[in-house]
Amino acid sequence: MEGWMMSSEVSRRDFVRVGAVAGAGVFLAQSAAHAAAPKAAKGTKAAAPADAGYQQPVGEAALKIVNLNDLEVAAAEVLPKGGFAYISAGADNQVTLRDNLAAFERIQLRPHYLVGKPAPETAVTLFGQDLSMPVITAPMGAHGLAHVTAEIGTARGTAAAGTLMTVSTAANKTLEDVAAASTGPKWFQLYLQEDRALSRGLIQRAEKAGYSAIVFTIDAFAPGASDETARLGFAFPPSLPLVNSGTATFKSSLSWEDVDFIKETTDLPLILKGVLSPDIAEKAIKRGVNGIQVSNHGGRQLDGVQAAIDALPAVAGAVKGRVPIIMDGGVRRGTDVFKAIALGANAVALGRPVLYGLALGGAKGVESVFGQIQAELRRTMMIAGTANVAEISRKYVL
Ligand SMILES: Cc1cc2nc3c(=O)[nH]c(=O)nc-3n(C[C@H](O)[C@H](O)[C@H](O)COP(=O)(O)O)c2cc1C
Repeated sequence: MEGWMMSSEVSRRDFVRVGAVAGAGVFLAQSAAHAAAPKAAKGTKAAAPADAGYQQPVGEAALKIVNLNDLEVAAAEVLPKGGFAYISAGADNQVTLRDNLAAFERIQLRPHYLVGKPAPETAVTLFGQDLSMPVITAPMGAHGLAHVTAEIGTARGTAAAGTLMTVSTAANKTLEDVAAASTGPKWFQLYLQEDRALSRGLIQRAEKAGYSAIVFTIDAFAPGASDETARLGFAFPPSLPLVNSGTATFKSSLSWEDVDFIKETTDLPLILKGVLSPDIAEKAIKRGVNGIQVSNHGGRQLDGVQAAIDALPAVAGAVKGRVPIIMDGGVRRGTDVFKAIALGANAVALGRPVLYGLALGGAKGVESVFGQIQAELRRTMMIAGTANVAEISRKYVL
């Protein structure tokens, strides 16, 4: 059976296979900016060259954000070329990457005017946890590519915004250190190891460290491939090891027995991430899964699959409110959050914008990203005529 190692030497999707340049790890700084964009924190350009292999941004500052789309341009200026390509790219022709964004634009809102609503409230409760908004941090590997504080910065920024962080197995900081970095709620995203004992160990560590749910990703058992990282010969920097999984081999073939295994191993709620069809959602609920995450991995895995927001209505139709639904992929605006909730999601997860905020301003940058999308959501709710998140429903989209 084919397997591959998640270490500083070998990689899967989310860790592009190390090629001929392995170990060289020298990246050119990105050249001029392409457009007006938020200013990065002072000193953001690069860390002192103590680690000549990969020079991460180090600055800490709140960001003046006009909209989250601008962040990508600004992040390209401060990140090493390879790291930026790794974060921003999608698989193959990037059709799904683009469609995740375009699909939101095709959905039209239907406001309800003259309804005399009070100022909107964005707070929600998700799996019993109070959050400031229905927007959380998606699991992403290797935050060390974006900023010297890595997942610690993201955890602090997400918590400061009053919301929840999902921590990837493929993190650059131990799950215990990330748990200790903030008191904010956290879920642990699991990549299964070939060795069940190691997977059990990871789940038990997450339980002990206070994570309140396990997110099992089902769409990344083989590496996705980005042309841009291949062109650049991007090698995952040896200075940024994946400290939770070490050199363990990730499972390259997944089945419902793996879902059973996780259910048998932990009493924590289990969320299945990567669901795009109603039949998988139905089977998952029958199998005891406690939450569904509609996702195509941000267009990084199988290019050509449906945009995540387009997959949501049918999945929500099958779930029928039995378990919470989280949706991710292409969420950039308060109107996107509103549309996803109107179409059946309980919350959305933000991916790349969080890493761009981290790159540009550390924890404060992450907090700014959430502040911006919360303000936009509030404005959308106000004009559309909803006083709270529970009121957002199908009748607000065409
Ligand atoms: C750099 C990067 C690393 C990622 N690593 C993981 C991961 O380790 N586990 C996982 O389940 N999803 C991972 N994802 C996918 C995200 O959880 C999420 O599905 C996606 O980023 C959402 O799309 P968006 O970036 O358009 O918001 C990663 C995404 C990015 C951009």
